[in-house]
Amino acid sequence: IKRAGITAVGHYLPEHKLTNSDLEEMVETNDEWIRSRTGIEERRILKDEDKATAFMGAEAAKEALARRGIEAEEIDLIILATVTPDYLFPATACLIQEYIGAHNAYGFDLSAACSGFLYALSTGANFIESGQAEKILVIGSDKMSSIVDYTDRSTCILFGDGAGAVLLEASADETGLIDYIHHVEGDTDGALYQPAGGSRNPATQETVANHLHYIKQDGRAVFKKATVGMADVVSEIMDANELTADDVAWLVPHQANMRIIDATANRMGLEREKVMVNIDKYGNTTAATIPLCLYDWKDELRHGDNLILAAFGGGYTWGAIYMKW
Ligand code: ACO
Repeated sequence: IKRAGITAVGHYLPEHKLTNSDLEEMVETNDEWIRSRTGIEERRILKDEDKATAFMGAEAAKEALARRGIEAEEIDLIILATVTPDYLFPATACLIQEYIGAHNAYGFDLSAACSGFLYALSTGANFIESGQAEKILVIGSDKMSSIVDYTDRSTCILFGDGAGAVLLEASADETGLIDYIHHVEGDTDGALYQPAGGSRNPATQETVANHLHYIKQDGRAVFKKATVGMADVVSEIMDANELTADDVAWLVPHQANMRIIDATANRMGLEREKVMVNIDKYGNTTAATIPLCLYDWKDELRHGDNLILAAFGGGYTWGAIYMKW
């Protein structure tokens, strides 16, 4: 079977930086606490009120198309991972189709929180492998600032806005997506979710007054689950493919917390130089963290490099992908 390879990467980051010292002015926190507990120094925030997730995803997609030198009309399918769609419907993938002029593409949104990009990438790979699509845009875009409560110090320090996009095509050789493992554990006891805005608690004056349209997170509970989940799933995929740390060129981890990333790399026995980290600059951009890493490291990646992508997030969802660049 054909493998699905990533043939181009694009990104979008808003210009405005929200630094730790800015947050010191907003809530009872400090730079030292944030750096030592999370590894984050600043995040990007999309300030333009008429722009949101679709805009950022479209900009990232346009850059990927330009880098590959193809027109948007050549795209068959757009898969967008997000938890901050522009609207509950229509799907934000439809808005991106229009933004970029991909008039021959259909598309859909995929909701898997911080694991969204991994779920979207493996879904896209199946369409390539089955021959159902030839050129797919897989996009992770999240305007987390739209659901962050900037009076809640335990969450507002963590998140940022941004988007990353990759172009998937059948690879000409042995490179591309080789294996993936995904997990769900639906019993989270409310540890990480957005209580209102969906059909369970539609928007009312009361839900707004009670801050129910914002992320609610039990940080300690999620941290414990994420540390174990990421490390376990990475071991699982390495064992299944008989890989040792020496075989791995790069770990591309979801950027939620530097301590979770370190724990994963330690379990793999992987030195820090082989781990992509940009959480210091962008914070947790949810579905965008992994493609933003691929974008930042694109000039260092070599043809045939073994990559392990891994993520853990709301759902709970988690997973890993093994691919050759
Ligand atoms: N500044 C200063 N103090 C703070 C802050 C802050 N910003 N936030 C919390 N604290 C305090 C707490 O009130 C607590 O004080 P107490 O001991 O007096 O009660 C103390 O610091 C320790 O709080 P913890 O929550 O235990 O701190 P922890 O070390 O766990 O760090 C953090 C918190 C950074 C949120 C961590 O738990 C974490 O990263 N969790 C995982 C986040 C994650 O991975 N989410 C999944 C992805 S998100 C998604 O899928 C959408």
